[in-house]
Amino acid sequence: MNQVVISGTGLYTPPYSISNHELITCFNQYVNQFNADNASAIAAGEVVALVESSVEFIEKASGIKSRHVVEKNGILDPLRMVPHIPERPDDQPSIMCEMAVNAAHQAMERAGRTAQDIDAVIVACSNLQRPYPAIAVEVQGALGIEGYGFDMNVACSSATFGIQAAMSAIQSGQARAVLVINPEITSGHLNWRDRDSHFIFGDACTAILLERADMATSPHQFEIVAMKLKTQFSNNIRNNFGFLNRADTSGIGKPDKLFRQQGRKVFKEVCPMAAAMITGTVKQADLQIEQIQRFWLHQANLNMNLLITRNILGRDATPSESPTILDTYANTSSAGSIIAFHQHQDDLAQGAHGVICSFGAGYSIGCVVVKKI
Ligand code: COA
Repeated sequence: MNQVVISGTGLYTPPYSISNHELITCFNQYVNQFNADNASAIAAGEVVALVESSVEFIEKASGIKSRHVVEKNGILDPLRMVPHIPERPDDQPSIMCEMAVNAAHQAMERAGRTAQDIDAVIVACSNLQRPYPAIAVEVQGALGIEGYGFDMNVACSSATFGIQAAMSAIQSGQARAVLVINPEITSGHLNWRDRDSHFIFGDACTAILLERADMATSPHQFEIVAMKLKTQFSNNIRNNFGFLNRADTSGIGKPDKLFRQQGRKVFKEVCPMAAAMITGTVKQADLQIEQIQRFWLHQANLNMNLLITRNILGRDATPSESPTILDTYANTSSAGSIIAFHQHQDDLAQGAHGVICSFGAGYSIGCVVVKKI
């Protein structure tokens, strides 16, 4: 079997950022307008009054201070609260393709690779803007890559499950090098009017280039030492949007066709699962947890990450051991742990070990132990 390395990563950050203050100003305007418009029905007990959101709650409950988005005005218009993303003609690149190509070019440049060196493209993310043709095939064409491409969705664990798919293709000899790309436009499936979750997501795209170890020449290589995936069915994070929606018109536009979650339950159930996966994968790599110098964790909630690292280390992790990017990116779904990996890897010495761990809807958890070469 061929040995596999991660030889380059890339990150596309959308140009707009929304602070908690901006978000709350819009949300509370919406709430106050709704309550004013429905004052008599609320007084009669026929409609439940909406409750304001707050900057303090968001920062305390999640650690999020701002988030990047592909379009801001539509989200911050209290009469709309949905991004403006105009449809494009079929002969123009899709927005997901555009983000993917941008991140992919960075990953290829870091790895010192061109399209001729790569045999496959996997686009792995939580929401794909169309069912077909696959975004991956469009990206493959835009980059000029021969071979094949396909899309996959394992929600917030799409990137780590994509790494597993790429690794298998390289190990078996199917491909020399594979690009795994995670374009996340979470602003399109977040319910910006839901007090419980309106603050949690942001947009971004990451790219990871994996190669046969014996061919890689990149100065930024990480050997994949061990890998574990796990899924367990749960309805606690769910989105019922899909092609069958049109077959029952009564459900069209209802909140269940957007992201929704039981945040408390997710927190309680996923933290121990993620901690056990990390411990198990590190053991599988024949390493002690003390030998892991960096934890690039899924970036959903700061308190979750503090709890997970405390559980596996028996003490608090330092900010350098478990870097945080969710403060300025929020939860970028599958891109989150890869943004942390991309931004916090260059200071590691040769031989250092680290763990990439994602967790999210499904439930799905992916854990990758890597060693800096
Ligand atoms: N502004 C102000 N107060 C709010 C609020 C808001 N936007 N949303 C909720 N609250 C209030 C609630 O009404 C509740 O008040 P009460 O105690 O008087 O009933 C209190 O804050 C706690 O609400 P809760 O929803 O239990 O908050 P939480 O501490 O669980 O934090 C999350 C919410 C979403 C940040 C947290 O549950 C979480 O991050 N869970 C995991 C999410 C995750 O990782 N998802 C994966 C997605 S892919």
